[in-house]
Amino acid sequence: MSLLRRFVIFAVCGYKDCAPTELHFESFDIGMSLLEVKDLKVHFPVKHGMFSRVREFVKAVDDVSFAIEPGETLGLVGESGCGKTTLGRAIVRLVEPTAGSVLLSGEDITQMNGSELRARRRKFQMIFQDPYGSLNPRMTVEQIVGEALDIHQLTDSKSARQKRILELLQDVGLDPVYAQRYPHEFSGGQRQRIGIARTLAVEPELIICDEPVSALDVSVQAQIINLLQDLQQQRGIAYLFIAHDLAVIEHISRRVMVMYLGKIVETADAKTIIREPQHPYTQALISAVPEVDPETKRQRIILPGDVPSPIHPPPGCPFHPRCPIAEARCQTEVPALREVKKDHFAACHLAGTKIEPKR
Ligand SMILES: Nc1ncnc2c1ncn2[C@@H]1O[C@H](COP(=O)(O)OP(=O)(O)O)[C@@H](O)[C@H]1O
Ligand code: SF4
Ligand SMILES: [Mg+2]
Repeated sequence: MSLLRRFVIFAVCGYKDCAPTELHFESFDIGMSLLEVKDLKVHFPVKHGMFSRVREFVKAVDDVSFAIEPGETLGLVGESGCGKTTLGRAIVRLVEPTAGSVLLSGEDITQMNGSELRARRRKFQMIFQDPYGSLNPRMTVEQIVGEALDIHQLTDSKSARQKRILELLQDVGLDPVYAQRYPHEFSGGQRQRIGIARTLAVEPELIICDEPVSALDVSVQAQIINLLQDLQQQRGIAYLFIAHDLAVIEHISRRVMVMYLGKIVETADAKTIIREPQHPYTQALISAVPEVDPETKRQRIILPGDVPSPIHPPPGCPFHPRCPIAEARCQTEVPALREVKKDHFAACHLAGTKIEPKR
């Protein structure tokens, strides 16, 4: 993130000094997580030859477990191709998990189908990076938002439907006079607002936000992040917020998970992970985020090579071919995700070892 970009986020939303992004509503059922993902795997078959035989699998998500509490934002960060989108899509059952469970308020949605799944889908929604691609270009804004109300029969008369659509547009900062317009008549930020209005129509408890601001201009990014935070405070919605930009993640999230080659390699409170990253990969990611104050400029850790193929992940620690401090056992022993400090987990045999950037 450039200095200018960080400044704009600060100017528009107060950056680190703004109110916490999550609210703890007293009415929430203490004890049960809103979402519990356990040992989730998504392995895509790779077909070869004339007979389309499956001999290999893309291990896009490999044994991932975590929980999200009501009204909380959990950030998910990692390089492109590490499995973030697949994880999000598997949670809302847009792709079928290969193994594991996804408990929403204690109910395993991987075991549901048909009408039971459709009814539960109301509770968990997804918004996407490309707002244009996810909106039907032949439908007006009113039809797009109204369709969500119709699918779940959430209004009982034409006038109630109309009133609700206009309320939703106002809630996301869109002038209701635009209700009869088509998606191509709007800017990227406005389209993302339409997508959010459609999502809110079904009153979700959890929204998977898959890089919702990555394709937007800097000032518009801050507006959409502010909108998501306001909606969370008003409605107690939980977010799994996916991004490759750690500065955005740090700003919006209470906790952060770092993903590499389909696995969670580090997770902790957002501020802790930025200040005291324990995994070498997280240290490298953080070193690439520019500081606002040029005096405290970080030295960037350059990782050698590219992310390996998730079809043949390296044995032992999957990060070992790129890790500046790898030792012999890293090539054979898989590091467990273990608590290295209180509420701070890292999957590294040498967690906490500080990497010195090469000069
Ligand atoms: N439908 C699919 N079939 C096969 N491989 C896929 C499919 N979707 C994603 N992948 C692969 O899974 C890996 C993770 O992809 P993705 O979840 O999109 O990562 P990210 O969102 O972190 O960029 C990539 O190697 C990608 O090519
Ligand atoms: S386990 Fe070894 S290779 Fe993996 S991150 Fe830690 S030090 Fe590096
Ligand atoms: Mg993605």
